[in-house]
Amino acid sequence: MSSSDSVEKFHTLLRTSVHDGTLVKLTLGKHRGTDATLQNLFVRPVTLKAGPHLSFTWRHATRDIVKNHPPADALVTLESLIGRDFLDAHLFTPVQTAQLESRSDGTARLHVKLAASAPSPAVEHHDRAKEHLVPADAPWLRALGVTNDRGQPREGMAAKFRQIQKFTELLAHLLVEATLLPPDTDTGSPFTPPDFRPLRISDMGCGKGYLTFALAAHLRARAEVTGIEFRPELVELCNRHARDNGLANLHFAAGDIASTPLDRADVLVALHACDTATDDALAKGLAAGARLLVVSPCCQKELRPQLTAPAILADALRHGIFQERQAEFVTDALRAMLLEWAGYRTKVFEFISTEHTAKNLMLAAIKTTPSPSGTRDVNSPLAGRIRAFAAFYGIRHQALAAHLGFVLA
Ligand SMILES: C[S@@+](CC[C@H](N)C(=O)[O-])C[C@H]1O[C@@H](n2cnc3c(N)ncnc32)[C@H](O)[C@@H]1O
Repeated sequence: MSSSDSVEKFHTLLRTSVHDGTLVKLTLGKHRGTDATLQNLFVRPVTLKAGPHLSFTWRHATRDIVKNHPPADALVTLESLIGRDFLDAHLFTPVQTAQLESRSDGTARLHVKLAASAPSPAVEHHDRAKEHLVPADAPWLRALGVTNDRGQPREGMAAKFRQIQKFTELLAHLLVEATLLPPDTDTGSPFTPPDFRPLRISDMGCGKGYLTFALAAHLRARAEVTGIEFRPELVELCNRHARDNGLANLHFAAGDIASTPLDRADVLVALHACDTATDDALAKGLAAGARLLVVSPCCQKELRPQLTAPAILADALRHGIFQERQAEFVTDALRAMLLEWAGYRTKVFEFISTEHTAKNLMLAAIKTTPSPSGTRDVNSPLAGRIRAFAAFYGIRHQALAAHLGFVLA
């Protein structure tokens, strides 16, 4: 099929799907127009009081702009954009998916695929909530190697994809619970309250930045997100992807958690920062006055040489795996208690099924004022219970306790 036939056929499929009500969605990508901040255009049918319309979501680097158009006007606009301002167009109907790939030299190819399991026609009312907080076709997911060109997880990345979705959902809830965002915040909306200032979020030990990108992309202008990472090559890579994907609210810096200054932060995140790097990150967040601390500890080695459990546990602890699990439990329980002592309400839970990763424990702490347990009173009943717990397991030193000046023994 020639390029012009491909384009004409795509336009016909689009017009037909709009007229017969089978359009599920149209996604335009690879923007080449004059506005450098524009990334995508998402189109879906909506029913307004004025009748059926097409809703356009113009995705810019830091905001979305939504406009609804009568179908005839919308089709004229779309036909002028496809292949010119946007080189990639995906049309979804319940029975098929059509992709028009255009090149800058004016040539184009059409791929049409029958839908294996078709999404139902999505005539949505325009106030319907988003289904996924991280859209599978987000360009940064593709840039980081999580998804392919069709917006599906690449081989071996399905668990990471689910983890990213789950983590973003959890953070969105925790931000509301910590009163850092109002409950009905539409993070895609370009409108912000008059007294609004972006949240400062620091992700320490961010690695390749999957979850850092997810936060920045979800919160957009509502947050300035910084990733801190040891390895300079990852920092360089992440900064490049943030720039290329127009995420102006996302930056990465090379550094060691313990020695990287953090003056002010609203949210401290440290996911899978090994061993005492989690304690260093928590201490940074506490000192910076963060209202929300979210960590997912791993490699809890620090306490293992000190652990002298009571004699009655000796037979059980002959087994290495139980020693390991006990060290994890004692370390994270102590962290949670110390955070309570420091004036935070804490909760510990599994944030994704162990089927996806064994490193799935999450500890979230929200600052409470005043603290129910009497903040940082070394003579409080809680302080006594912490010392008794440490003594039971023979623990004399623990990194977070040291950061807080809490003497365990
Ligand atoms: C297991 S990865 C986790 C990455 C990411 N947070 C996630 O959950 O996908 C841990 C990362 O933390 C970094 N890291 C560990 N200790 C660190 C420290 N003290 N300072 C800065 N980065 C650290 C490592 O280089 C590594 O990239």
